[in-house]
Amino acid sequence: MGDSLGVATASPALDLREEILRLKTERNAVILAHNYQIGVIQDIADFVGDSLGLAYHAQETDADVIAFCGVHFMAETAKILNPTKTVILPDKDAGCSLEQSCPAPALQSFLEEHAERNYYVIAYINCSAGVKALSDVICTSGNAIRIVEQAPEDRPILFVPDANLGAWVMDNSDRKMDLWKGSCYVHVEFTRNSIQSIKDEHPEALVVAHPECTSAVRMLADEVCSTEKMITYCREAPVKDLIVVTEGGMLHRLRKEVPDKNLIAGPTENCACADCRYMKMNTLEKLHACLESLDPQVEIPEETRKLAEASVIRMLEQSR
Ligand code: 13P
Ligand code: SF4
Repeated sequence: MGDSLGVATASPALDLREEILRLKTERNAVILAHNYQIGVIQDIADFVGDSLGLAYHAQETDADVIAFCGVHFMAETAKILNPTKTVILPDKDAGCSLEQSCPAPALQSFLEEHAERNYYVIAYINCSAGVKALSDVICTSGNAIRIVEQAPEDRPILFVPDANLGAWVMDNSDRKMDLWKGSCYVHVEFTRNSIQSIKDEHPEALVVAHPECTSAVRMLADEVCSTEKMITYCREAPVKDLIVVTEGGMLHRLRKEVPDKNLIAGPTENCACADCRYMKMNTLEKLHACLESLDPQVEIPEETRKLAEASVIRMLEQSR
């Protein structure tokens, strides 16, 4: 880059990147980012992945500070696994509609009202530490079938909070479950008609969808999987054209790691992917600010954290 006199000038974005990298070293921090983060955050992160990969990385890191670029429950999971480390996040208000659909007091009341059922509670990781503390085991989209299949046979299963993910697990295993009626506001926006019209325009294309989509959309998909598995699926797919039905941030990693594939644009000027407003609250500026001030930090009452940790650890052990 240069000005009109040919003198080199650094761009502000470049300065910010350099400042973030400097602070990262100074703090002995690791930057973890979810696949739905904006491109510039993914590019500066030490690890980018799905909820399961991020949980493993959070468990294994020897950094003093974890800067978690995702949504709040993901940073909270890192803190559950690392009570002595400082866990910071760019925007503490980056929530999740699934987390909001199942407040811990509502789950607690439900379990008390149905105490005679003696439910084995499996919670999708998209929930608060309070809900994790009330659960027997956690799962992610990457290991949900495997975790459900390891549940004790002699107890009924309550699956919270994503009814679509739970229904997909039941379609792919012989276990029956009672489902909490939560959903992801991004993935339920995809409709059968909108995906079918993209398919009609690209009859050769394969469709890969996230299990948080409705069953009507999942039925149109050639593969239903977690965001991490989408990378492998797209790389190995025997076709060039792929319709990717999930949050838009996914395209950044796919374009980088699977550059020879054509990610299909939909009937509007955008593709089949939509934005999660919570994931998109994080910016490079906010990442810089939280590394500088070590604020906001995730804090969890120790009693809740310990109970939540047991169910997260059970998941990590059951999915190795
Ligand atoms: P993954 O674990 O598949 O990345 O999904 C997380 C999520 O929030 C999907 O909306
Ligand atoms: Fe939550 Fe949906 Fe956003 Fe994922 S995409 S973080 S499930 S609201």
